[in-house]
Amino acid sequence: MSMLKNVWHAAAWSAEVADRPFARTIAKEPVLLYRGTDGKIVALNDTCPHRFAPLHRGNIVNGEIECGYHGLRFDKAGACVHNPHGDGTIPKSASIKAYPVVERDTLIWVWLGDPALADERKVPDYNWLNEDDVYDFSDGHVMHMPLAWDLILDNLLDLTHGAYLHPDTLAPTPGLRTETDVRRDGERIYSLLSTYDAPPPPIWTATGAATGDVHVDTWLEMRWDAPATFFLDVGVKPTGGEREEGNALPTVHIITPETEETSHYFWKMFRNFNRGNEEIGAIMEEFATRAFQDEDRPMIRAVQERMGGRDFWDLDPVLLPSDAAAIQARRMIKKMLRDEETARARAEDQ
Ligand code: FES
Ligand SMILES: [Fe+2]
Repeated sequence: MSMLKNVWHAAAWSAEVADRPFARTIAKEPVLLYRGTDGKIVALNDTCPHRFAPLHRGNIVNGEIECGYHGLRFDKAGACVHNPHGDGTIPKSASIKAYPVVERDTLIWVWLGDPALADERKVPDYNWLNEDDVYDFSDGHVMHMPLAWDLILDNLLDLTHGAYLHPDTLAPTPGLRTETDVRRDGERIYSLLSTYDAPPPPIWTATGAATGDVHVDTWLEMRWDAPATFFLDVGVKPTGGEREEGNALPTVHIITPETEETSHYFWKMFRNFNRGNEEIGAIMEEFATRAFQDEDRPMIRAVQERMGGRDFWDLDPVLLPSDAAAIQARRMIKKMLRDEETARARAEDQ
């Protein structure tokens, strides 16, 4: 699937970017990030207009990026401000694209599209990532995935795959009494799954959130905002009990496309139980890494290879009730892509 530009893409965790050049390709654009002298994030296209050197191979000098090939220097707005050659005249065309950028809730978001449309109020809401008085957090992780972003989106909105792909890590075994539902709240989609009166999945016993074979109810509520930002509220509670009596292990998942076939997968887990126990934190991260890297990744990769670059809809997929959330999301994204295309064509005509 093509990639949207007029959206906020997660570019990095805050902790990844310091006052040194940091490079990441986002929706096929090479992006350079660094912190300026005031600590604020600068986001520029990572290509020098002289001989097209990747600027991240250079150095930051007084808050400006100096190209590591011939020394042209650019400020945070992308204007060339120093030319060490000849009489020092700045060539007229020597500038690079600067992207709108927002740092919020331990994440850095960039806007690759029309800067006039970059509305900071639309940065996805992850404000609870600051609530370290309530939760113990894992580090912010980012996995490079050889997977198209829309196939990861399908995977995350379909919670029923857990019973088949993750019975040894995250999910209950197949065949349990489960309820699924899909809800819409404006442009936000929720995919819900509950199980009842069943042995707890492995991650819950391993982290001490549930004990052995004492039956529990589980809840999973995946929240989706376009294009691919997710929050999974997930927990176990005593059979027939209330959520307040249970333990929660929520996860942030954010997928940023890199190319048509590769993605950056940002994730972070947190828990409201066994707080302060680092061993439990390590177990929780190990389960999640295993599930994403060793269980989801090879299956989605195999799907991608079998699809062979053909469009999802052109393949006429069989649809199940559990696909409802992903199908609604795909339809919304398709419309957003169409709208972007129309706006671009109109701008080119003018
Ligand atoms: S390539 Fe950057 S100054 Fe020459
Ligand atoms: Fe999965």
